[in-house]
Amino acid sequence: MIQDHIDELIEILNRASYEYHTLDKPTMTDQEYDSYLRELINLEEKYPEFKRPDSPTVRVGGEVIEGFNKVTHEVPMLSLSNVFNESEIIAFDERVKKEVPNPKYVCELKIDGLSVSLLYKNGKLVRGATRGDGVTGEDITHNVKTIKNIPLSLPEPLDIEIRGEIYMPKESFLSLNEERRRNGMDEFANPRNAAAGSVRQLDSKIAASRNLSSFLYHLPNAEQYEIHSHYESLQFMRKLGFNVNPNIKKVDGIDELLLYIEEWTKNRETLPYEIDGIVIKVDDLSSQKKLGFTAKYPKWATAYKFPAMEVYTKLRDIKFSVGRTGQVTPNAILEPVILAGSTISKTTLHNEEYVILRDIRIGDIVSIKKAGDVIPEVVGVLEERRTGNEVPFEMIKNCPICGSILTKKETEAAYYCKNPHCDAKKIEGLIHYASRDAMNIEGFGDNIVEDFYNMGYLKSISDYYYLYQYKEELMELEGFGNKSIQNLLDSIEASKSNSLERLLFALGIRHVGKKTGKILADYFKTMDKLEKATYEELVEVHDIGEIIAESIINYFALPQNVELINNLRKIGVNMSYMEKDIVESADFLGKTFVLTGTLETIKREEAKEMIESLGGKTSSTVSSKTDVVVVGVNPGSKFDKANELGITIWTEKDFIEKIEKR
Ligand code: IVH
Repeated sequence: MIQDHIDELIEILNRASYEYHTLDKPTMTDQEYDSYLRELINLEEKYPEFKRPDSPTVRVGGEVIEGFNKVTHEVPMLSLSNVFNESEIIAFDERVKKEVPNPKYVCELKIDGLSVSLLYKNGKLVRGATRGDGVTGEDITHNVKTIKNIPLSLPEPLDIEIRGEIYMPKESFLSLNEERRRNGMDEFANPRNAAAGSVRQLDSKIAASRNLSSFLYHLPNAEQYEIHSHYESLQFMRKLGFNVNPNIKKVDGIDELLLYIEEWTKNRETLPYEIDGIVIKVDDLSSQKKLGFTAKYPKWATAYKFPAMEVYTKLRDIKFSVGRTGQVTPNAILEPVILAGSTISKTTLHNEEYVILRDIRIGDIVSIKKAGDVIPEVVGVLEERRTGNEVPFEMIKNCPICGSILTKKETEAAYYCKNPHCDAKKIEGLIHYASRDAMNIEGFGDNIVEDFYNMGYLKSISDYYYLYQYKEELMELEGFGNKSIQNLLDSIEASKSNSLERLLFALGIRHVGKKTGKILADYFKTMDKLEKATYEELVEVHDIGEIIAESIINYFALPQNVELINNLRKIGVNMSYMEKDIVESADFLGKTFVLTGTLETIKREEAKEMIESLGGKTSSTVSSKTDVVVVGVNPGSKFDKANELGITIWTEKDFIEKIEKR
């Protein structure tokens, strides 16, 4: 009978897939698997009436949905409270011990992906959903079905919900980005974003191609299955065919718990997937019940978040770049590694002195550190890993772009290219003009500006505003379409209405950074008044010193700069300061904020702007004058300092809530 044969093929293939993707013990060659699969595909095409919803052919994707339906979680999907250091872990244990003497904990790796709820009816997967806000999530069943180690059917006809994490293995992430880079597409910042982006696709073929994986770690209605501990839940889920992380450990007391954390803080890099911490859960379910929940979190569990990280990788090369001021910087070209959730393949080595002091050589295994939110740094070299083939560093004598001889001031470590016509300086100046903190012309990243420059469309700043004349031509360029060019042009047009401080920063006047641009705009209000300001008037302005004043005078003394500004004025670029309306909010007004760690849902700059627009101030150091510290992922020492000083701490979620409340 055809139907029996189809059933048999499904059994064979599902078992083989389970052995391969969940048990990590393949029992069949790829060729064998493919030939069974092809046979099944052919039969299903011929006899669609026998196609089963748990057929492995579903995994290749193909279902396309029109939009994401909302789903309600019967049991809310809660998040976890965070702890960041040993004393906070001890405090968590103490709180637990008040309710539960001698608690046993289960320690788990905190998988850096996105949480998922899987619903089975009569043993068949009927729904996969995101967490959403915890109560309402989105239906992503079509994509979940493509994940190879999520069972489409269970060995028993259960009605059951299972929860866990969908993630992208590091290797898949690196090759996905490599492919995107080759195709000129934006790369994903980290495996978590890549996984989240993949399950939010309408076409399940895309998710199917992304090599996603899963770990399941929570059974919401465990009591219904006569389960008494979390550890038993995990074993039960494993028996049902789910991928349960093998590095889970039951620990007896705080000492064992701290050892587990120490071990995984050290070994996390050896894992083929990213973890961002350790989850600690009270094992006994009746103790969990006794401890209960706060509005947001279970009181019986918490997540320890890893601190700033260090990784090792090979220094492939040192390449020099020329900034818009002409400063020549050596850059480390690295074998790509993931550090604190982002791929690093290039980072600055600052200047000659920095490299010489650390004796960094091409071919070295170097250690890279990222503290809090700063750019990753090459902090040292593993001398014991040297082979003798490493190439010592030598500073170049000529500009890598125009060949002019580089110059160096006695008092500075940096070398400069002084050629005013150096292409690199011009390109960097154009990139800077469009950058987010300057005129915020979206879409003009390094590559486009360089290409447009080389093709002659963009030679000076005013050329941005004449690009529309070449619209038809630009649309013909490879990689551009009608829509992308229109977006660029719209963004250029929108930049004309920026407030003066953005333009002042964008022009690239030496020593006029973002903050100085704001001070000048606020004080002089119009470009015209600033242009006419004398040296004496400038130094009168609070926070404007002699060096800045001199630089501004020098800038306006050059006829080509005055001409540029006149031209921009003629084009319609706004030349006056537009004071932002400050909406006063009691949570923010007059208070000083410090941001630490990575914010996940809002860009740091946006967070700062919001604080300011609500009447608050931001600072980069924690002191007794700080009112609130907003803590993101992997906060640095600022968080410890805030705790020491007893300063109010807000999580990112608290922060967003206060902003939304205003
Ligand atoms: S338990 C009520 N266990 O971390 C229990 N969560 O920051 C809820 N996560 O939303 C979650 N690995 O997406 C749990 N072993 C693990 C986890 C884990 C990763 C995620 C999960 C959760 C988030 C909280």
